[in-house]
Amino acid sequence: MIFMPFKKEEFVSIAEALQKKKGTVQLHGWAKRKREIAETVFILLRDSSNEIQCVFEKKDFSERQWSELFRQGIESSFFVKGNLAEEKRAPNGFELKAKEFQVIGESQNFPIGKDLSEEFLLNVRHLWLRSGKMTAINKIRHTVLLSIREWHDQNGFYEVSPAIITPNACEGGTTLFPLDYFGEKRFLSQSAQMYLEVLIFSLEKVYGLTPSFRAEKSKTARHLTEYWHLEGEIAWGDMFEMMKYIEEMVAFICHQVGKRNPKELQLLGRNPEDLLKIKTPFKKISYDEALSLLKKEKVSLPWGSDLSIKEEKVLAEKEKQPFFVYGYPTAIKAFYAKEQEDAKKCFSFDLMGGEGYGELCTGGQREDVIENMVKKLKKDKIPLENYEWYLDLRRYGSVPHSGYGLGIERLIYWMCKLESIKDAIPFPRTMNRSYP
Ligand code: 4AD
Ligand code: MG
Repeated sequence: MIFMPFKKEEFVSIAEALQKKKGTVQLHGWAKRKREIAETVFILLRDSSNEIQCVFEKKDFSERQWSELFRQGIESSFFVKGNLAEEKRAPNGFELKAKEFQVIGESQNFPIGKDLSEEFLLNVRHLWLRSGKMTAINKIRHTVLLSIREWHDQNGFYEVSPAIITPNACEGGTTLFPLDYFGEKRFLSQSAQMYLEVLIFSLEKVYGLTPSFRAEKSKTARHLTEYWHLEGEIAWGDMFEMMKYIEEMVAFICHQVGKRNPKELQLLGRNPEDLLKIKTPFKKISYDEALSLLKKEKVSLPWGSDLSIKEEKVLAEKEKQPFFVYGYPTAIKAFYAKEQEDAKKCFSFDLMGGEGYGELCTGGQREDVIENMVKKLKKDKIPLENYEWYLDLRRYGSVPHSGYGLGIERLIYWMCKLESIKDAIPFPRTMNRSYP
């Protein structure tokens, strides 16, 4: 039963009300907290913009209304109309002295209280996403996605939409999710790279933002089975040109998040200044130098081995901002990596987050000579027939080209100093979680 006139245009957001500072306003939102003292009820009302304390005095309401208000629990949704007043003790320094209200959706016994385990919060993720922490991360994620598009557009990249159902592996067979595609075996995409390579022949500089899938059996703080993959590819460019683009882009995203989301960053324990002062060029160390640095830290790794999370952490521990490791051994990188003159090494790089966070991004120059690529595919025992289309790119007007792939959640994980990558995405998918 609506007793308060509901006119959409008469509502303001809580942020607008806080700016207005005085007068009568009409709000809608959810009860984040509720407490009663004698004849007064305090509800901390939240909406997507902010939160404000609403104060209800018994004398202003009928018996029926008062008992209805009393019944409400955390997360009930409301219309509230009242007068704004300064109140130093209230969050944000203002409160709303409620004169009229209407309960829209009741909520009783909201299952999330205090100090609940990570596993429980993942089970009730659909409700936990209302929390201040998750809201802050989602707002930052929005800025990240927006800035990515803005930066690529400003730098002459076309956004393209590659396929998700694919006939072949891009990153090796062990993490492929197979799919019965009307009787034929297909896979969920691990990377859009090969499709982006197709599109540079017409558009020259392209990027895509798509889900990638990895059947990761490892339970680590930085692996998901479904993640959002930002990938780019440029014609006529080498590994160093690609690294320059990436550092400019990552710095741009950091600055945008620092400017637009200082409140959210602080709530997560990240000082916005850390992001605002990120500077280019980023440090670039060769794989060989990385091994020497590790040796100094008493971590010995034989030449030719890949850096695992452990070694990446050691390298990243003292760094305040992201840095590159480049020139990896050919044998540990994918078949498409272009070999250097010294064929033991290839033109590939990883971007590492600082402060102990490891790999954020991988990229490099691609093999553009067909004979070399066929040799590599055969050596890796990869059946050629599924790659014929990819080989065509080397048959008809091949050009030197380079690209990269960056995990959106890895970037957010580092930017927001999260403990687990799972919080960087609203509905995390891991080996033992695909609910809700
Ligand atoms: O290093 P990766 O496997 O490289 C590629 O897929 C290339 N084909 C990309 C390209 O050049 N176009 O994956 C790229 C990035 C990683 O650096 C990491 O940030 C992210 O994707 N990533 C994951 N993020 C979350 N969970 C996982 N299981 C991930 N696997 C890779
Ligand atoms: Mg990688």
